[in-house]
Amino acid sequence: MPNDPSINVLGISGSLRKGSLNLKALKAAGGLLPAGCAFQIADISGVPVYDNDVYDKGFPPAVETLRAQVSAADALLIATPEYNYSIPGVLKNAIDWVSRPPDQPFAGKPVALLGASPGGSGTMRAQYHLRQVFVFLDMKPVNKPEVFIPGAAGKFDEAGALTDERTAESLAALGASLVDWTLRLKG
Ligand code: FNR
Repeated sequence: MPNDPSINVLGISGSLRKGSLNLKALKAAGGLLPAGCAFQIADISGVPVYDNDVYDKGFPPAVETLRAQVSAADALLIATPEYNYSIPGVLKNAIDWVSRPPDQPFAGKPVALLGASPGGSGTMRAQYHLRQVFVFLDMKPVNKPEVFIPGAAGKFDEAGALTDERTAESLAALGASLVDWTLRLKG
């Protein structure tokens, strides 16, 4: 079952910075997805700040692209930093744009969450806030495993590769759950 090549997973990182721990964790998670999954990471850096007057004239190109990527994905894998105990603005902003009608593309979409922080919480508060957003969007989140990566600055090498075995096990388990859940929802 996990070898089903038809599962394509879209990764979204809530951090724009080049050295992002969450981007590194997301790449590691993508590499640990079950064999046969296709994986790509969306670029949300060009998504403008939400403005309903702009929306009234049509989606900006970066939003159109992201909406199309979300629509086409069988499942989403989101890596979020925690900012002030909550969701970073860039990630919430991208979600808000994509969520606008018509054809809200998050509805019914399987999604798995992870997050990395240099401190001790591993983004758990931000992840719980995101889960609340998923309710309104009618997304289908994987409940477990929850993947909180504390002390993340010490868990990647200079090239950005994950070096922590326990984190790798958690990410592999998350990917397996996401694929299993996606296949179950597809029936
Ligand atoms: C942070 N950081 C942070 N960390 C945390 O564990 N809880 C928090 O509430 C916050 N708040 C916060 C606010 C703002 C505005 C910034 C810029 C940062 C630290 C954060 O975890 C750290 O910068 C991470 O490295 C961000 O993730 P990336 O960019 O490495 O993926």
